Amino acid sequence: MIMINLNLNIGGTFDFITQNEIELFENEISFHFKQIKDRKDKGSKLTGWATLPGDTSHDFLDKIIKDAERITQNSEVLVVSGIGGSYLGTRAVIEALDDHFHLKPGNNNKPEVVYAGHNLSEDYLFELLKWLNDKEYSIVVISKSGTTTETALSFRLLKNHIENKYGKRKAKGRIVAITDARKGSLHKLAEKEGYTTYAIPADIGGRYSVLTPVGLFPIAAAGYDIKQIIAGARNMQNFLFNTSALFENPAFLYAAVRNILYNKGKGVEILAYYLPNLFFLAEWWKQLFGESEGKENKGILPVSANFTTDLHSLGQYIQQGKRILFETVLSIDKNKNQLKIPDDADNYDGLNYLAGKNVGFINSMAEKATTLAHIEGGVPVIRISVPGLNEKILGELLYFFQMSCAISGYVLDVNPFDQPGVEDYKKNMFALLGKPGYQNRIKEINNKLKRQ
Ligand code: PA5
Repeated sequence: MIMINLNLNIGGTFDFITQNEIELFENEISFHFKQIKDRKDKGSKLTGWATLPGDTSHDFLDKIIKDAERITQNSEVLVVSGIGGSYLGTRAVIEALDDHFHLKPGNNNKPEVVYAGHNLSEDYLFELLKWLNDKEYSIVVISKSGTTTETALSFRLLKNHIENKYGKRKAKGRIVAITDARKGSLHKLAEKEGYTTYAIPADIGGRYSVLTPVGLFPIAAAGYDIKQIIAGARNMQNFLFNTSALFENPAFLYAAVRNILYNKGKGVEILAYYLPNLFFLAEWWKQLFGESEGKENKGILPVSANFTTDLHSLGQYIQQGKRILFETVLSIDKNKNQLKIPDDADNYDGLNYLAGKNVGFINSMAEKATTLAHIEGGVPVIRISVPGLNEKILGELLYFFQMSCAISGYVLDVNPFDQPGVEDYKKNMFALLGKPGYQNRIKEINNKLKRQ
């Protein structure tokens, strides 16, 4: 029997939906799951992620680990340049596992990871290059298309900086490019320069690519165990592939419940978490669900809340604002560290009633109390819990969300693997910047801008 660490509890939705309503989804969900397996539904050319964990060999992972060590052996810092699906998964995993205050340089003396290519801030890039002046560093540039402006632009600046610092020949040994196997500008550049390269499989799109070298290379370079990540994802893959009953398959159940709530007017899903190091996991989740489902004037709006911090901001809206929300709590049972509240003779702060208790226990009571209040306030709550945070559990979680998202998108009757809307702003931006090929749009755009 396959055991997973993840537990999905939908008890907090029972005031809003019925078991019968869930059961009605059984056939539809099984159908979509089969379509994903058989690669038959919309966008099925991009469903390679579904069997990826099972298809990933130890030899391949060993090669990534070796290359990551070689490229970063003399580096205190690794700059990861990418955006969207070529960035968020890496940061989600590294930050979930990292020390909050980076008390040591990276994990086990591995390089500290910093990011570029995910914004167009002149100050950010200027200050990054300035900071890198007296750091030993390497670069991983990641772009499937190879043409994403933010990534290409930051890489041009970084390439120039690293070549000036080490000389062209030595710089080459400090750069890895992760891109399409055959096409795109980054592919051409990497080939010409002779960089170490990894291919992003053609049948896996950006936001489903964290378990390819896109995520695995930088995560390995940061000192985390990518074999365990894949082992966790493979475990979840095997479990989901071998569990056909809707109520026993957490991906099926999550997809069904989300869609039922959506159909009842709950158009916003808040991913709430109680540990600040899950911030980027929630960012990754938002991109996964937002880009996959938000199209054709449909889709649940994914937002995130960092509790208890956001209970002192968004909390008011969640409790009493417009009743268009449901909440999915991502809960981690055990902390890495133990910290007990000390007793205080004066007790001016009145906290002696908590003396001897762990901070984690207090946090767990905050979660219980909040969930209760939110349900009573008209917010259905789904709870996803795992026993702790480690590579294996993160692998499970990542795969679970990918499968849930794909099925949920199909239930919504959209293609969960494209993102046609992302192109619209790009066309305007390219015209405004005078990119060759976009000149004929500029007059039209200037007229529209005048009207605003
Ligand atoms: O999910 C997606 O496909 C997107 O978010 C991409 O990952 C993002 O736009 C970056 O694209 P690229 O890897 O081509 O630079």
